[in-house]
Amino acid sequence: MTESPSDTSSETRDRSILSESEGQSSFSSLSSSPARESCSLLPQPFTPATLLGPERDGPSLPAGLPCLPKNDNPRVVADQDIETPDNWVKRNPNLIRLTGKHPFNTEARLPDLFKAGFLTPAHLHFVRNHGAVPRVSDEERDSWKIRVHGLVEREVDFSIEDLARLFPVVTLPVTLVCAGNRRKEQNVVRKSLGFSWGAAGVSTALWTGVYLSDVLDYVRPVRGKAKYVVFEGGDSLPNGPYGTSQKLTWARNKDKGMLIAWAMNGLPLEPDHGYPVRVVIPGQIGGRSVKWLRRIEVSHQESQHYLHFWDNKVLPTQVLPDQARGEKHWWYDPRYIITELNVNSAIARPDHEEILSLDVDSGEYIVEGYAYSGGGRRVTRVELSLDQGETWKIAEINYPEDMFRAVCHTDPVYGTLDLTERDTSFCWCFWSFRVRHSVLAECDAIMVRAMDEGLVLQPRDMYWSALGMMNNWWFRIAISKTTVDGRTQLRFEHPTLAGAASGGWMERMKNEGTDILKPSWGANGAGSLSSRAPAPAQETPMTKPNVNRNITMSEVQNQDRAMPWFVVKGEVYDGTAFLDEHPGGGDSILLVAGEDATEDFMAIHSPEGRAKLAEHHIGTLVQRENAPTAAEPETDSAPENADVAFLDKKKWKSVQLTEIRQLNHDCWIYRFSLPAESQPLGLPVGQHVFVRLRRKDTSELVQRAYTPVSWHGALGAVEFLIKIYYPSPGYPAGGKMTSGFHQLAIGDTVEMKGPLGSFEWKGNGTAMWKGVERRINKLGLICGGSGVTPILQVLRRVLHDKTDKTTQLWLLSANKTEADILCREELDALHAAHGTDRFRLHYTLGHVPSKWKYGIGRINEAMISQHMPGPSDDGLILVCGPDGMISQTVKPSLRRLGWDIERSLVVF
Ligand code: MTE
Repeated sequence: MTESPSDTSSETRDRSILSESEGQSSFSSLSSSPARESCSLLPQPFTPATLLGPERDGPSLPAGLPCLPKNDNPRVVADQDIETPDNWVKRNPNLIRLTGKHPFNTEARLPDLFKAGFLTPAHLHFVRNHGAVPRVSDEERDSWKIRVHGLVEREVDFSIEDLARLFPVVTLPVTLVCAGNRRKEQNVVRKSLGFSWGAAGVSTALWTGVYLSDVLDYVRPVRGKAKYVVFEGGDSLPNGPYGTSQKLTWARNKDKGMLIAWAMNGLPLEPDHGYPVRVVIPGQIGGRSVKWLRRIEVSHQESQHYLHFWDNKVLPTQVLPDQARGEKHWWYDPRYIITELNVNSAIARPDHEEILSLDVDSGEYIVEGYAYSGGGRRVTRVELSLDQGETWKIAEINYPEDMFRAVCHTDPVYGTLDLTERDTSFCWCFWSFRVRHSVLAECDAIMVRAMDEGLVLQPRDMYWSALGMMNNWWFRIAISKTTVDGRTQLRFEHPTLAGAASGGWMERMKNEGTDILKPSWGANGAGSLSSRAPAPAQETPMTKPNVNRNITMSEVQNQDRAMPWFVVKGEVYDGTAFLDEHPGGGDSILLVAGEDATEDFMAIHSPEGRAKLAEHHIGTLVQRENAPTAAEPETDSAPENADVAFLDKKKWKSVQLTEIRQLNHDCWIYRFSLPAESQPLGLPVGQHVFVRLRRKDTSELVQRAYTPVSWHGALGAVEFLIKIYYPSPGYPAGGKMTSGFHQLAIGDTVEMKGPLGSFEWKGNGTAMWKGVERRINKLGLICGGSGVTPILQVLRRVLHDKTDKTTQLWLLSANKTEADILCREELDALHAAHGTDRFRLHYTLGHVPSKWKYGIGRINEAMISQHMPGPSDDGLILVCGPDGMISQTVKPSLRRLGWDIERSLVVF
């Protein structure tokens, strides 16, 4: 039975109340006055400063401790958030958003973070959210419970007030670091599975709460059986709530400093940081510090939460992203999990693009930065090299965390801030190195590395891995020199810029063809580094070595359509051979005939697809004077004319998402508005459009062909029915495109291009198929799952066509469960309106409900024979569904039933 700590008298924090006889009363009593009084143990008012409005800072700290940071609380919701589920969270608009608008993943500009000092104000603290922030009202906050259960002798639901009342309240300074900090450097080498953190995915705050070990002592884990403590957050993510775990022995060890925390720098947590309560795990990656804490389970096994396995890993360097995606065992191998942070450091000053005018006689410059390590280990050494790793000099280190070791401070909000008997180092330290301008004048790069008290030194070489995590090779700044008015100026270049911004020496040198895993600069450095680095960076070659023909863009454009040429990355390819064999159909080649297809091609092809392209390489694009250039397939921004159809075969055009409607557990309708309200889409019945979008998590551009589900004649808008392929153990990465759809928020845009397809239902019993017009009287339609969309377009056009009184229709729709049958209401209504003579409708299901009058099981030959028309000259079958259904069942069955499938089967 779950206990509830009773509302004791306001004699709070008396450990005697932790007796077994306590804790039986109902929680409703917490709204009574004694418990209310105990609120004084929490920062008051207990509402995030940004939600409350007034300027607020936490209670000040005594002299001798680092200063409390000045909050610059955002007052309004940032524009980018307005159309997202987080449109109530007030955020600093100057942070760098790393995954577009939503979810919110962000870091400050490195100089801003560094300037803020030891304690980071909430408005500059990095944020890592996997989904929308749970919105917690005052009432919900008051009744928020953390359920502690599992292998414990007493299961308890704690409110935050209970925790504050039952256990000593403590404050610890703790640096949180995202495991992806500095990932952009790995992504420049080779794109990993994660988004591009710069070097500011690290921040420090005073966290106030209670020790997890005290709570565990109270609930008494079952000896011998209990091994792990599992935490679960209150956010809703596609694969269930965020959760992860700790070994019980570590969680019970107070020296590890694990907290259940409700305040940050003396103020209630901000929504982005876990309001009203979170876990803080010092010395480990930020991913272990579960926000919006709902549940703690003491268990015999580690967390079974999806992201506990499918995130936060350093996989062996040879495992490339596609392989990792496809092979589950890497993720479940306990050897690859990341727990403690590794030693790391970065240079904050000089900043990227900083210019220094040298005064070689007397000038001095102070190079500065941060360093941290994991597991409570102290950074014992920070070294700088000004000669590219030949020699190293020791930097000064300042450990502001040590200031807390000298003073014991007690306060109603912070509780006890006492590090006097704590040896662990859970915070970043700052280092500096004074260097004469005359020395910098001779220097081509500055490099930094740190060592911790485990004598672990940051490595020279990058350990690239599929998730790009824990990147801690030497942080290097390149220096270039120019002379202005007789004075030498140095320009400093960081390795990368956070997020999508381009810049930094890594990208530049990669473009110049330099091996960026063995970087060296100037004469001093050339060849001075030999690399033992893994070499995952090789780009797939897309050219043939002996091809040296020069081709102009006008030659490409004037090529016969039967033998289409196109351009990718400045090279020309002959697409003729692809017309038949391309998995996306010949149309996808014809759409880019005569064009620069770089963006389209790179968006959807794997290294294998790219390697195949090399076989069709015929030359290199050259530009003649005044010849048209290989224009980027840019999005068209010309004003729209409402009378002219929206779609353009040659140009990507943007549409804006205005509505998302959920149909069932995995299917959604996405409605996009066209630029002009009364504009037709311009899509013939039976044809499709290409849709492309940029994934927010990976920044990848992905595109697929879709048939809208909106009415053929609809004006000013278009709707797509999308079945989302969520990540699952058998399909770990989820659908590449549909995951991108799932990330979209109202107001986002995608691009469309088309029409595309060789079939068209022209109306009045006429079809156009492979360029030949045919009279059709019998139309068989077969679809599986979301393959209903092109079928529905044709069906509607026939049955709503006043000039067509004769075309007969047969529809066979296969689905897993009844709930999966899409657009069923409309199908049934059409069937009811037109009768079986005109429209025969049959469904088949993998799992049938108790009352079911249609078919059972997968489509088979008998079903096709019974529910499709027989072969005839005026008959045609249209099919859309999974490849297996079409190639293994539909095609062979139709053949055996006497259909000439070359002539009479249209596969969408
Ligand atoms: N907790 C929940 N419930 N949901 C999340 O998405 N992200 C984790 C962790 N806790 C996350 C979470 C990750 S990966 C990190 S790095 C830290 O929160 C970031 O904490 P912050 O956003 O307060 O800086």
